[in-house]
Amino acid sequence: MTKPLMKGAHSDVTAAIGNTPIVRLNHVVEDLESEIYVKIEYMNPAGSMKDRVGLNIIRDAELRGMLQPGGTIIEATSGNTGAGLAMVAATRGYKCIFVMPDKMSQEKVDVLRAYGAKVVICPTAVEPSDPRSYYSVARRLVEETPGAFYSNQYHNPANPEAHYVSTAPEIWEQTGGEFDAFVAGMGTGGTISGCGRYFKERRPDMKLVGVDPIGSLYYEYVKTGRLTKAFSYYVEGIGEDFLPSTMNLSLLDEIVQVDDRECFMMTREMVRREGIFCGGSCGAAVMGAIKYARALKSPKRILVLLPDSAGKYLSKIFSDEWMRSNGFLDDDTIGTVAHILKRKPLRVITIDTKTTVRQAIGILKEHGISQLPVLDEHQRHCGIVSELDLLNYLVQNEGGLDLQIGDLVSSDYATVSPHTRLQLLKNIFNDAKVVLVTEGDRLLGVLTKIDLIDYLASERK
Ligand SMILES: Cc1ncc(COP(=O)(O)O)c(C=O)c1O
Repeated sequence: MTKPLMKGAHSDVTAAIGNTPIVRLNHVVEDLESEIYVKIEYMNPAGSMKDRVGLNIIRDAELRGMLQPGGTIIEATSGNTGAGLAMVAATRGYKCIFVMPDKMSQEKVDVLRAYGAKVVICPTAVEPSDPRSYYSVARRLVEETPGAFYSNQYHNPANPEAHYVSTAPEIWEQTGGEFDAFVAGMGTGGTISGCGRYFKERRPDMKLVGVDPIGSLYYEYVKTGRLTKAFSYYVEGIGEDFLPSTMNLSLLDEIVQVDDRECFMMTREMVRREGIFCGGSCGAAVMGAIKYARALKSPKRILVLLPDSAGKYLSKIFSDEWMRSNGFLDDDTIGTVAHILKRKPLRVITIDTKTTVRQAIGILKEHGISQLPVLDEHQRHCGIVSELDLLNYLVQNEGGLDLQIGDLVSSDYATVSPHTRLQLLKNIFNDAKVVLVTEGDRLLGVLTKIDLIDYLASERK
């Protein structure tokens, strides 16, 4: 016989998911006319908004008969979804195996092990299709483990649905929908897509703003429609190197780019000046919201979702030693891309998609350059054509010199803004051969390693 539940108690910890507070920011937004409010999701029982996702994914799998009693849940996770799943699994007797990239903080790994889960660590610096990548390893474990259920947060509709049925209605009830913009960092896209759909159905004029770290491919994809190569960055939980099917980018009204340094500095500010003990992607989301607010013509009410807590990043973002050794604490001693541009404006030689191979070769020869940015019919950059692209085309010998260049445009480049720090630019050059400098939709030029070397050398004279 089940005993009656004591007054004021939940039946188990999963019933305590949700009802997280919304709080106004007062100090880090002093210079803004707009108001910024934050939804503090680290107050969920396993510490993040992914508790809602874990619960919804497991409920959905049970309903569809994909998870049997005593079964094993397998997930490729950067930590928080794992904690959410592991908490729910603990209350229902399921086992868990989590596959994580090696850049994740030790605290996140320890949390999952504390819930009794098995954790497998994989290298970050390999392509998603590589058999060593955490996506591939997760798939292999699913095949090898009897009674396995692959929760697959990147392609499971129960992920965005969790926010559609839980996070968003809760926000709506708390606020009466009295805010103008919703801002969230984007990983799987579950939060922004699930909440975004709910809000837009009720208020089509509600602005949806995604925040993306420099290095992730979302920003460039939204701006140009091209899937560029992603490169590595430190902030955890947001940004991707592929397009998950849980992400619905068509809902977005705006996408804002942030770099690691500003994410981490804002995270520290949030804890020290607002007393909000939040993690790195929260600093990113708040920084993104502030940038969005600064660009507005009239003040608005902005609601920002804060995914998780500072506790998981004490040995990184909150360690001066770690921050300093990664170049995040030092003053900008070597400057920003704007310093290079001030010393020597970049050459902006572009072609359009209708330029022929013959014309492109002529332009490369005439100016002694190795790559050309390509502009689309709206004069927005849509990729590059490099010597190598032309060489490959000619060696394959499949077409003539009158082919329009649009067919050869490649995405092997990174974009930065004049505000990008040179320290970060150096890291970007580890992954990208060519860097385009852009400001909004405007292309300011191509930056190469030699431009950076030349600038740094001139500063030493
Ligand atoms: C710390 C953190 N922030 C942000 C996100 C991004 O949320 P979503 O996957 O819903 O886009 C995640 C996702 O794992 C996360 O762990």
